[in-house]
Amino acid sequence: MCGIFGYVGNKNDAADIVLEGLKLLEYRGYDSWGVAVKVRKKLSVDKHIGKIGDAQVNLPQSVLGIGHTRWATHGGVTAANAHPHMDCTKTIAVVHNGIVENFQELKTELIEKGHKFISETDTEIIPHLIEENLKKEGFASSVRDAFNSLKGLNAVVVAYAPSREIVAAKTGSPLVVGIGKNELFVASDASAIVKHTKKVIFLEDNQMVILGKRLKLINLPGGKEIKPTINKINWKFEHGEKGKFKHFLLKEINDQRTTIIDAVTQNEKKLFEFANLIRNSFDTYISGCGTAGHACRMATYIFSTIAKKHINFAIGSEFSYYEDFLTDKSLLIVASQSGETIDLVEAVSAARRHKSKVTALVNVIGSTLYRQCDLVLPLRAGVERCVLSTKSFTSKLAIFYLLAFILKGEYSEGRKKIIKTARAVGELLDDKEFNQQLKNVADEIYKTKDIYILGRGFSFPLALEAAHKIKEASYIHAEGFAGGEPKHCEISLVSEGTPTIVFVPNDETKSAIISNATEFKARGAYIIGIGPEKQAVFDEWIQVPDLGVTSSIINIIPAQLLAYYLALKKGNDPDKPRNLAKSVTVK
Ligand code: BG6
Repeated sequence: MCGIFGYVGNKNDAADIVLEGLKLLEYRGYDSWGVAVKVRKKLSVDKHIGKIGDAQVNLPQSVLGIGHTRWATHGGVTAANAHPHMDCTKTIAVVHNGIVENFQELKTELIEKGHKFISETDTEIIPHLIEENLKKEGFASSVRDAFNSLKGLNAVVVAYAPSREIVAAKTGSPLVVGIGKNELFVASDASAIVKHTKKVIFLEDNQMVILGKRLKLINLPGGKEIKPTINKINWKFEHGEKGKFKHFLLKEINDQRTTIIDAVTQNEKKLFEFANLIRNSFDTYISGCGTAGHACRMATYIFSTIAKKHINFAIGSEFSYYEDFLTDKSLLIVASQSGETIDLVEAVSAARRHKSKVTALVNVIGSTLYRQCDLVLPLRAGVERCVLSTKSFTSKLAIFYLLAFILKGEYSEGRKKIIKTARAVGELLDDKEFNQQLKNVADEIYKTKDIYILGRGFSFPLALEAAHKIKEASYIHAEGFAGGEPKHCEISLVSEGTPTIVFVPNDETKSAIISNATEFKARGAYIIGIGPEKQAVFDEWIQVPDLGVTSSIINIIPAQLLAYYLALKKGNDPDKPRNLAKSVTVK
């Protein structure tokens, strides 16, 4: 996934407008960035590796510009591989989000025709394809034919200096067009456009748009002009501020005292409609990626224990390989903070192919999944700027718990339990000794090569999520296990002092997980216990309140904070970890 931004209009500071847009899209990837602007009949480009930060762009004034902030897929993190990429004549510039699966064969053909390449990227073949087509047709049809020849899920934005036009096309990765007064915008998502205009067009798959003297929307692959649907953005885009916190990660961990409550403050009609879909569905499938995937896995325990309902979980990137079991009586629930994760967009397409009902829990209003699903419950977590998902994780858990309580016929009692849990989260976050203890644990273990995390039942997805947080933030190898599994294999990896975090809530897993911790301790592991009661096997006890069946929501808090303090100890950027991005729109 990458961030794309384009501008053409009557202002002559296109470069600055584009750079400002890219800064709002950096959550999509931040290996490198670049801007190209029209200078008379040519394009001039300025590219850099690293994050944008406070950089200024060194380009002349212009009325047309495109830009890109990159998450590397093909080719290392170098200025040469940064976008925009140009053709031999320097009149065409392209920025791209996606993967051109047939780029090698296209590149070979272009080299045989004499085209010179300076990067290792798949993207660079696109401007040369267009250059080749321009020998026999106009600019827009040259882009159309070049785009139609690409295999894979791609979004491209092409600038052409001679005609002062931008053409954009997409299959898969998102693109939004903004319609201003004598100016037009195109970006990866509306949050980068809304400052300029609230009139937007969400490009659908296999559509192309020509932004020039006027706007034309084209259907691909044929090229027939179609009437655009213009949406008015009526929702607020906060870009989020750190406030008193040093990093978004700590700020968003602390937001949970209110976001968990906001998550269960939903439109009740929609909430009950959603619960009824689960109640009446012949088979329900739930899917998410990364942290959202761990929340979905937790949902299977929540619905089983509270609502006696069987829900099938599949990791987002694997879901479409299961599609053959879907029927028109199936229900798919996807959970996604960004609403753009391509694996889930693909899962929705798979479900649609079998006429299944598709519902979603999504944080970003107006995102692809928000628009494509039959029924959506917003997470209401506010903007989540840190690449690591924290508040969106507990918001998903809160909504899953509430839906399960509704199915059990205990909506108001369940909602009260969740709100009580949110209040306890706030008290824990305000507990200075608790925070200091986690800093101390980070000081003790940050040099370790491995960290293991054990949990059973509800705590198994927590073990996975805790490991996920620690890896994302500290780059330390961490692995979460169902407590009973390592005795079959991974216990062979335990050496003297290996930090092992164990979730020990007061539930039916308690005695068995203590046995598992004891097995690890017998092999030299350093046991860090998270639970309401101190256990003899603990070397370090991180106390959390016992909140009964909703304890999972609060039990993840120490793991989130530990990940944050480990990131600081390792000197990492907690908000923008290396090699990661907030929204993954490539497969
Ligand atoms: C990853 C993020 O790229 O995508 C994770 O770094 C996130 O934090 C995962 O859990 C899924 O993203 P989303 O937007 O679908 O919840």
